[in-house]
Amino acid sequence: MALTLKVNGKSRQVAATPDTPLLYVLRNDLELNAAKFGCGLAQCGACTVLVDGKAVRSCVTPAGSVADAEIVTLEGLGTRDNLHPLQQAFIAEQAAQCGYCTAGMIMSAKALLDRTPHPSEAEVRQALAGNLCRCGTHARVIRAVLRAARATEKAP
Ligand code: FES
Ligand code: FES
Repeated sequence: MALTLKVNGKSRQVAATPDTPLLYVLRNDLELNAAKFGCGLAQCGACTVLVDGKAVRSCVTPAGSVADAEIVTLEGLGTRDNLHPLQQAFIAEQAAQCGYCTAGMIMSAKALLDRTPHPSEAEVRQALAGNLCRCGTHARVIRAVLRAARATEKAP
């Protein structure tokens, strides 16, 4: 069965049933491997992507339910030569160890900064509370998100 999804600004056709988790379609059919399978139960945030600007858990989102939506993955943010401010800030703060949680963290942070460009530290903590990192990078991640918010503030 063919499904059409709009991912990172492009219309993509995939052979998948509507109940296939969006994460599987992204990784297995579209080779967008930034979002990770962590728990598969909406509990870790490693699979977070944006759907119409909201951070969602793609592991428990049926692909058919987002057929009319704008889906954005980490691959849609920046390029190697032109990193998104969040990607720059994560590098500057060295906010990753194994990196397994990082794409989900950045996508949750993007949803936050898009609706609240200058969040307080408490707001950042709250927005990322559902993104788990077993390497213990949370403090650096919070600093990175605040740094990205400041960088955006300075941009013309
Ligand atoms: S893999 Fe989706 S929340 Fe853990
Ligand atoms: S950097 Fe390893 S899980 Fe977060």
